[in-house]
Amino acid sequence: MCGIIGYVGAREAAPILVDGLHRLEYRGYDSAGVAVQNGAGVEVVKLAGRVAALRGQLVHEPVHGTSGIAHTRWATHGAPTTVNAHPHRDCRGDIALVHNGIIENADALRAALEAQGHHFVTETDTETVAHLIEDAAGDTLEARVIAALAHVEGTYGLAVMSATEPGKIVVARQGSPVLLGIGDDELFVASDASAVLEHTRSVVYLDDGDIAVLTRGGYSVLDRESHVQLREVDDVAWDLAQIELGGYPHFMLKEICEQPETVRATLRGRLLPERGTARLNGLNLTPDDCRAVQRVVILACGTSWHSGLVGRELIEDLAGIPVQVEYASEYRYRRPLPLPGTLAIAVSQSGETADTLEAMRAARAAGARVVGIVNVVGSTIAREAQGGIYLHAGPEIGVASTKAFTSQIVALALLGLYLGRERGLSEERGRELVCRLIQLPQLVARALELEPQVRTLAERFATSPNALYLGRGVNFPVALEGALKLKEISYIHAEGYPAAEMKHGPIALIDENMPVVFVAPKDQVYGKVCSNMQEVKARRGRIVAVTSEGNGDLSALAEAQLCVPATLPLLSPVLTTIPLQLLAYHIAVLRGCDVDRPRNLAKSVTVE
Ligand code: AGP
Repeated sequence: MCGIIGYVGAREAAPILVDGLHRLEYRGYDSAGVAVQNGAGVEVVKLAGRVAALRGQLVHEPVHGTSGIAHTRWATHGAPTTVNAHPHRDCRGDIALVHNGIIENADALRAALEAQGHHFVTETDTETVAHLIEDAAGDTLEARVIAALAHVEGTYGLAVMSATEPGKIVVARQGSPVLLGIGDDELFVASDASAVLEHTRSVVYLDDGDIAVLTRGGYSVLDRESHVQLREVDDVAWDLAQIELGGYPHFMLKEICEQPETVRATLRGRLLPERGTARLNGLNLTPDDCRAVQRVVILACGTSWHSGLVGRELIEDLAGIPVQVEYASEYRYRRPLPLPGTLAIAVSQSGETADTLEAMRAARAAGARVVGIVNVVGSTIAREAQGGIYLHAGPEIGVASTKAFTSQIVALALLGLYLGRERGLSEERGRELVCRLIQLPQLVARALELEPQVRTLAERFATSPNALYLGRGVNFPVALEGALKLKEISYIHAEGYPAAEMKHGPIALIDENMPVVFVAPKDQVYGKVCSNMQEVKARRGRIVAVTSEGNGDLSALAEAQLCVPATLPLLSPVLTTIPLQLLAYHIAVLRGCDVDRPRNLAKSVTVE
């Protein structure tokens, strides 16, 4: 949830570290800090606030040196204050460390260390590790780090420096993502590739249990017995432009507008029109494997859980396999039932969401075959799954997920088609779905043309304290997603609900002040949704209807009608979502919210 970065090389470390923090800020942004070895020791500058404020502070309080570590925080233990900001130190000020994760036995460790006379200055769990290293035996920093971590329970991606070993950074990984950046005569450590991309594309993904030692002379990866481990050097496919705003005011708007291209990228090379099926080589599922699947379990959180709900409709309809969609955070603590013949699908944009990762591990332990639908290449879920589908949607920087959602639905449609064609779905139906998938990118582009209309609409609802989103069937998850987007970035309380369920409670909320957004494209339940609109109208609710072209005029019922292009009902969520993403975006902008860095959130939830 936090972002860490480190640098060892010939250049001034501080500006490199702060630029890297800026790229990692979507991971957490309530406080930041840097530590640099200046030849006389380790100097720390940190504060509560954004990376930009830290950059300003360093103008007044410059730190010089060619090796250092830095951190941008999403607070878990201890309020986001300057004192609790990372880096953290030991009693003597020799050690400085930055950490992403949670030290679960911090309280017990702290009590023991304080009993031995250690003096703590912060409320954080992380500070215990600095004092443990201070106490640990060993001739080298890496030996002391290994000895200290033997006492630690929890998750961590951490980087440590010591005044007694200038020019060395020791890195440890357990549960939180960490990679090394291999440059020309310089080395980096970071939570993800975006922080090192402007310096190098060559990265080494560390595995759980790895300890890495970085010096000017090079790097080594060790296990907890200090045995050298060989780790592959990977090449990051992204380019810098993909993590720049590119003239847009916000990453969220840029990513919404990228969707014609990102949907095309998810489809690229995966459609076989002549056979009416999909080609998903990375999935590692043979036709026999497809036929052996007795049930599917989709594991995910947040927006990915919503695309999982759409995936259920797609896979059940196309492949005739029963699908259950589980909140990963709940699933991982349920009694594990044996899962022979089960295909477990972990859906995650970041590929690092702790709950989804652990749920996937639990399903695998219970006998399921596990695959991932993931956007971030080289992420932990992608590396641990037995196969998968990469979205190829490019880096998603805006904390509110948008392009990943539509690409997840497209990937689940491809999976449903692939499984279905191996289990009796007709070539004719397969060809029709392939044909409609090929049309999707340009239909998404047409849906984006609604933006001016949506911007005007946003002005009417920007001051609403609440909102209700209603949909049925495959568009019920779209109602949930629309509500989540509005909540996340505008802080308006919004709820998504199956339209028919409204009568069983939420209808009590409806009066002339309640905006009610209906997701109502042309499909088998359209008529039913219109009846639900009538029920809301009768109570003077303010209706916004997202429908598909050719649905006729709803102005008698709705205050506003947003028409997206028509497509197969099963694929309609890819289009009906677009105006809802834009509505949340423009309302948040009108309310002066920080769209890309909404309060209290972070892009990748790597802690429980
Ligand atoms: C969505 O806008 C949020 N950022 C959040 O709900 C997110 O979808 C959730 O944390 C899951 O993330 P993942 O897809 O990276 O696993």
